[in-house]
Amino acid sequence: MKRTKIVDIFNPQLIGAEVSVKGWVRTRRGNKHVQFVALNDGSTIKNIQIVFDMEKFTEEQLKPITTGASIHVIGQLVESMGKGQSAEIQATSLEIYGTADPETYPLQKKGHTMEFLREKAHLRPRTNTFGAVFRIRHNMAIAIHQFFHEHGFFYFHTPIITASDCEGAGQMFQVTTKNLYDLKKDENGSIIYDDDFFGKQASLTVSGQLEGELAATALGSIYTFGPTFRAENSNTPRHLAEFWMIEPEVAFADLNDLMDLEEEFIKYCIRWALDNCKDDLEFLNNMIDKGLIERLNEVVNTEFVRLPYTEGIKILEEAVAGGKKFEFPVYWGCDLASEHERYLVEEHFNKPVIMTDYPKEIKAFYMKQNEDGKTVQGTDVLFPQIGEIIGGSVREESYDKLMTRIEELNIPMKDMWWYLDTRRFGTVPHAGFGLGFERLLLFVTGMTNIRDVIPFPRTPNNAEF
Ligand code: 4AD
Ligand code: MG
Repeated sequence: MKRTKIVDIFNPQLIGAEVSVKGWVRTRRGNKHVQFVALNDGSTIKNIQIVFDMEKFTEEQLKPITTGASIHVIGQLVESMGKGQSAEIQATSLEIYGTADPETYPLQKKGHTMEFLREKAHLRPRTNTFGAVFRIRHNMAIAIHQFFHEHGFFYFHTPIITASDCEGAGQMFQVTTKNLYDLKKDENGSIIYDDDFFGKQASLTVSGQLEGELAATALGSIYTFGPTFRAENSNTPRHLAEFWMIEPEVAFADLNDLMDLEEEFIKYCIRWALDNCKDDLEFLNNMIDKGLIERLNEVVNTEFVRLPYTEGIKILEEAVAGGKKFEFPVYWGCDLASEHERYLVEEHFNKPVIMTDYPKEIKAFYMKQNEDGKTVQGTDVLFPQIGEIIGGSVREESYDKLMTRIEELNIPMKDMWWYLDTRRFGTVPHAGFGLGFERLLLFVTGMTNIRDVIPFPRTPNNAEF
């Protein structure tokens, strides 16, 4: 008999039918006349209640049905008298796939802390919260592909192993097959990579942007969606060493086009969650963050503020003059700290802010330089609770200006000749951005630690599972 997924079972047309369900036991309770099992199969946050009439089953048969055990039940789907569910199954047959010893199965009681569950990351997808988070994660990935496909962008696969540091921040993990105990060095003490696997120093990518630009200047509009790696030793609730990034890149786009795309894209994703993840969002709204759904609705219905950096600094300086205390100083040229970003978004404007035109010193080499000689056309999208959710820019399309900046910053360009070719042959104005997938998920799920929106987080001192 074909298995019915629990997500499909709450269908009035199935009432009266014989159904077969398979899943993991959440709870069992009852007395010597009747026993109730709450069964979940991961297809939905909802459990199906299985009713065992103890005239048809023995205590001995039901004894292995403890929390975490996996079972297969056949029975009749009937309307439920109990509150909180519309249907239940009157069991006629029971098969036990696997038991879960109550003494050692870690997910016994409800209300484990997030820290505890992180240590059990191999089992936490079986909890309500993580089931909801990972179903939403899937749905957001679908939304992203859907958005770009509808808008004529091509999904372009950029390499994970690379020899160039896109952000120039030196936060790359090296990839090597060299014997680390016996490294060949030149007379200056520098490691010689000629005999390494790639014949040069290679690393895991921090961004697919540079290759994305090659694609955009050929296919017009592209996006990447893949894992990225940063060896930044920041142990915060918003940083991972391995995270997923979405990077669209668009030929012929200017700053306004870029900001329009950022805003439309992010609203599309959030609206998708509201439309397609109702049960999971309601659960998270009840259990994790009572303001979640309201906040999601607010963001899709509000116009984002567009704010030049220089204006932002003025607002922050006025706040300081008015008595606001920040841990880090505010001055023109400073890299905004999370407390500054959150002040603007949560206290001053009370809505998302797209900040633009940053001092060139605090941004990457590839950003388009403004006439003033001081600022570049970079944009950060700042979100309530999260801070920076998107970083993007118009790209410097002039070969000469780009080269000047590269020389000023002493960036080794010998491995980037191919990137400069885009500016030598048919260069065009173009722009793009990177959205941190897990930052988006933090916002959409209301979870507060980025380690809890990716199945197996990689952070300093942690690569378990
Ligand atoms: O601002 P970032 O560093 O920008 C870039 O990498 C550009 N190359 C993107 C582009 O223009 N194509 O990173 C982009 C986003 C950030 O806004 C943030 O959401 C996320 O990536 N991010 C991280 N997420 C989790 N953990 C980290 N360590 C992250 N670093 C950046
Ligand atoms: Mg950034």
